[in-house]
Amino acid sequence: MPVSISKISKSKLDSVNFDTLRFGDTFSDHQYEIRYHKGVWAEGQVMPYGPIQLDPALSVLHYGQAVFEGMKAFAYAGGKINIFRLDMHYKRFLRSCDRMNIPHIPQNVFEDSIKELVNLDRKWVPTDKFKSLYLRPFIFAADEFLGVRVAENYRYMVITGPVGNYYSEGIKPTRLTTFPEYVRAVKGGTGEAKVPGNYAATMKPNAYAAQNGYSQVLWLDAFEHKYVEEVGTSNIFFRINDTLITPPLEGTILPGVTRDSVIYLAKKWGIEVVERKITIDEVFQAHEDASLQEIFATGTAAVVSPVGFIHHNGASIDLNQDEMGPVSQKLYDTLTGIHHGEIDDPDNWCTLI
Ligand SMILES: Cc1ncc(COP(=O)(O)O)c(C=O)c1O
Repeated sequence: MPVSISKISKSKLDSVNFDTLRFGDTFSDHQYEIRYHKGVWAEGQVMPYGPIQLDPALSVLHYGQAVFEGMKAFAYAGGKINIFRLDMHYKRFLRSCDRMNIPHIPQNVFEDSIKELVNLDRKWVPTDKFKSLYLRPFIFAADEFLGVRVAENYRYMVITGPVGNYYSEGIKPTRLTTFPEYVRAVKGGTGEAKVPGNYAATMKPNAYAAQNGYSQVLWLDAFEHKYVEEVGTSNIFFRINDTLITPPLEGTILPGVTRDSVIYLAKKWGIEVVERKITIDEVFQAHEDASLQEIFATGTAAVVSPVGFIHHNGASIDLNQDEMGPVSQKLYDTLTGIHHGEIDDPDNWCTLI
């Protein structure tokens, strides 16, 4: 697929302090865009990072037909850069596009757009072990038309930026609260797709959670408000009686790439992993009878983050731990080791450039 490249005249790199990086507020020098019109993808364009012009009637601004992905590139052994599980992120991008009736971008265009951009801005990949270059491919409906209809025009873009820890607490245990008044997703809806509307609907409960000292909302199922689903922007695991339990993929939670990696690694180490429904009451009961050993959340942004506290209906679980449990720690160390090429990658999760 042809790509035209227009480079910046002066890099912004010197103005960035890599020691104080947070998440999501710093962007690399270039962005990528390719446009789609009635079945035809135009030439890809790499251009300096910056604002884009949008018609006020642009369909995505009114009806939200859009999809995004989130993945990371890491400084890897031997001066290489590793894009982690690129193919799995592509597959999820397609599944999300299917749900939103957005055309499928070819795999080589998706993968090349990311590789091209990362390679061009490779100096932006932090060399520090716990930092990375966050990659955000996204696609949105781009008809200049008011009215609910499937768009004929789409714009696919990629932006990237160096990131530090997702939570301001670093890898300290997070505090979660349930929020029975609001739900995130129902079967048949868009909960298993990575689409902006899912996140828009969580802003109000998230704001409440933050005002009350919680890091994220722990979502329960939409009908009975008793089955645990996922956490803000992560999937969740409970270690009870040495078994890892995580809610099943039944249409309402995002099929996390980190979730998949964690299940795979834990099984490989001989740990029993069960994907099944688990009620919040069962979690509280397991805490009560001391069979609850660890709770952790998994996601590209935070990798593996321990959960230290859960509030639900006026009661709470305080795991009273100031650090990661042994299984979360081993998973975190192994995943970050694979990310940076310190641990072998027998399953070909790394795309090196
Ligand atoms: C709602 C939601 N659940 C789970 C996850 C974890 O998915 P992944 O491990 O692919 O980052 C994310 C992050 O993308 C998310 O936004």
